Amino acid sequence: MRLAIVGSGYVGLVAATCFAELGHDVVCVDNEAAKLSALRRGEIPIHEEFLPELLARHRGERLTFSASLTEAVGSSDLVFIAVGTPAGQNGECDLSYVESVSREIAGAVNGYKLVVEKSTVPVCTSEWIRKVMLLEGAPEDSFDVASNPEFLREGSAVTDFLYPDRIVIGADSERAAAMLRKLYQPLITGAYRKHKGAVPAPDDARPVPQLIVTSAKSAELIKHASNAFLAMKISFINAVATICESVGADIEQVREGIGSDARIGRRFLEPGIGYGGSCFPKDLKAFRAVARECGYDFRLLDEVININDEQCQRFLRKVRAALWTLKGKRLAVLGLSFKGGTDDIRESPAIALVRLLLAEGCEVAAYDPAAMERARETLDGSVSYCESAYDAATAADALLILTDWEEFGALDLERLRACLNYPIIIDGRNLYQPEALAERGFIYFSVGRPDAVPKKSSAAKKRSVEI
Ligand code: UDX
Ligand code: UDX
Repeated sequence: MRLAIVGSGYVGLVAATCFAELGHDVVCVDNEAAKLSALRRGEIPIHEEFLPELLARHRGERLTFSASLTEAVGSSDLVFIAVGTPAGQNGECDLSYVESVSREIAGAVNGYKLVVEKSTVPVCTSEWIRKVMLLEGAPEDSFDVASNPEFLREGSAVTDFLYPDRIVIGADSERAAAMLRKLYQPLITGAYRKHKGAVPAPDDARPVPQLIVTSAKSAELIKHASNAFLAMKISFINAVATICESVGADIEQVREGIGSDARIGRRFLEPGIGYGGSCFPKDLKAFRAVARECGYDFRLLDEVININDEQCQRFLRKVRAALWTLKGKRLAVLGLSFKGGTDDIRESPAIALVRLLLAEGCEVAAYDPAAMERARETLDGSVSYCESAYDAATAADALLILTDWEEFGALDLERLRACLNYPIIIDGRNLYQPEALAERGFIYFSVGRPDAVPKKSSAAKKRSVEI
């Protein structure tokens, strides 16, 4: 099929590349000329596993880039809208990019087009797109608007796209639903994974995704409600972790106990320094605003947001409890992106914490495998960026783990201890077992678990530490 994808950001670019991988002809459109030129040269603006390989495979063949929305729409049967939908002043979704793109699409209609919302948008947006396109003069029977929400996570975006749990098609006409079914056919039948050279399926992938066909409005709601529910799970476990800390219980044991109930499930119950990223914070506020507009006061969502906002402050208190005064302390910070596997720092709780630490007068030596360049653009100059975790730890008074990168869970602990001034680790992601670290001579603080101190009280080899 012939597709235009408008917006080549995290979602648009991954979707475009994966649709090309499924055998479709895709034109990517963006209004940032520099981004398009870089993509044409094969440079990838984001860190995402398998994306470089797939882009190299299809670039210039089934996957092309264009600055002209009109041309792209003219040569396509389906037009995906994947432009940004940032938060407006009162938390509501700012749909101005979606609206202007819809107007442009209307002006370019030259035969039947299926316009598909891929960006996360409030319920009823598809109706608005339709109204705007009609106002712009697109003939009524020349297009349909459908919703096809995307559930990919950054860091595992390509495999999430190619091996999804479910595909949601929100279409109000049989023609639109049939086109979207055809588009996803290689995934729906499981044929894609059998192809030579297919991106390997993750171990926990379903044999085939569940196909869910709904109205456009239901699909729009499915996306907002899914993100709100997942964020609620995270805030819930973070709240329970706080109680564990006050009574000396262990959140990992509690999590195992509740997560093993199939009705609850283990996933998205990892405590930490709070959720971040370009989706949860923005989508929670937007869903809150949608509910308000519908006359429903969704206070549960307020509390999910409050718990999350407090999580960074709670972690800062933990750092203070571990180190006493903070002014002038040199801290090694591992992780700047909002989660492991991505260079995205949008709404990253790690960045928020670095800012709080700098405001307290700490010296920060940071290391992140992918996000340092982006962090440099937003943090002020006083952070020093290091080549490795050990480099950051050198002569630091404590080590803070703020992002769940895999490599941070597999550090050479002997080497780390030799680098640090004091063997103190404050882990915001629970990447280690407290007893194991205590055995290796570390004083270890984590989230929702008892603090661990080396058995023999000469806690540090280099100097003794009182806590
Ligand atoms: C976006 C939405 O913000 C999110 O709600 C949705 O779920 C998926 O799409 P993301 O892909 O991360 O998320 O956004 P971003 O990386 O900002 O990419 C948007 C792209 O659209 C940018 O490359 C931007 O240049 C482009 N754009 C924006 C246009 O091409 N035209 C516009 O009018 C506005
Ligand atoms: C999310 C949704 O998962 C995805 O379906 C949607 O399309 C976009 O938004 P993403 O933001 O890429 O994806 O990352 P996700 O893995 O959901 O993590 C979001 C945040 O929650 C991260 O900051 C992560 O560290 C945090 N998190 C996640 C936890 O703190 N605990 C968990 O158990 C899971």
